[in-house]
Amino acid sequence: MTARPAPPAEPGPRAVPEPAPPADDARVPPHARPVRTFLPRRTALGPTRRAALATLWPERGFAVEDPTRPPPLRPDGALDTERLFGRVAPLVVEIGSGMGEAVRAMAAADPDRDYLAVEAHVPGVATLLGALAAGGPRNVRVALGDALVLLARWVPEGSLAAIHAFFPDPWPKARHHKRRLVRGERLTLLASRLAPGGVLHAATDWAPYAEEMLAEVAAEPLLDNSAGGFTPRPAHRPVTRFEEKARAAGRPVFDVVAVRRP
Ligand SMILES: C[S@@+](CC[C@H](N)C(=O)[O-])C[C@H]1O[C@@H](n2cnc3c(N)ncnc32)[C@H](O)[C@@H]1O
Repeated sequence: MTARPAPPAEPGPRAVPEPAPPADDARVPPHARPVRTFLPRRTALGPTRRAALATLWPERGFAVEDPTRPPPLRPDGALDTERLFGRVAPLVVEIGSGMGEAVRAMAAADPDRDYLAVEAHVPGVATLLGALAAGGPRNVRVALGDALVLLARWVPEGSLAAIHAFFPDPWPKARHHKRRLVRGERLTLLASRLAPGGVLHAATDWAPYAEEMLAEVAAEPLLDNSAGGFTPRPAHRPVTRFEEKARAAGRPVFDVVAVRRP
């Protein structure tokens, strides 16, 4: 009698996402890899973060570049935010939500809008999901992967109430400036996804990048920076640990706020 083969492992709805978007995989030749605004990293997860992912991922999270775990989509291929959030409400997207401190505080203070936090690194996604499981606001969902891919692929033009980009990677070396988020075609993509009157809010502690953001926003025809320069720090943007460190190091923080023209 031959032993029966073990049944194949079921991925199931509780599967934990891969730590890095597939396009950055070493198997993809360098020339075929897209230029990312983040550095792909693989970080081992401890048991707490693993548990957070396993618990809340199926309900509140989805992957941008893993076709086996897509978000709910409408028949026209757009993100089905009604199914994702269970209601129809204005949508705010945070790009690079890190550990999720800002999005949690802002969503809790703004219950009539929905917040989609997009982060390329698994530990941040896991930390945010853990905080949401521990009683965080109900109007937050979390996407793992490249926010620019998400915006281009699934977010219709003219649809977002706001886009937040708090402390995007500054890429200080000149040869890396091409990776900056608030720049050129990437900025045009962000602006195009905002509804008329929708707000782009970026903040950085890297002064040269802040100046570049101002210049890029001024050169983007879809956007209007009515302040004409930096905006005084809005009280509704929470101080994260990241900002605390910048302050402790004596680096001022700059806010750039612009509105999508009609
Ligand atoms: C310097 S950290 C700031 C994190 C957080 N906003 C804060 O204030 O603490 C920048 C984060 O943006 C993420 N990031 C950069 N480009 C991204 C993209 N295109 N899509 C998703 N996340 C991105 C990085 O993984 C990183 O976690």
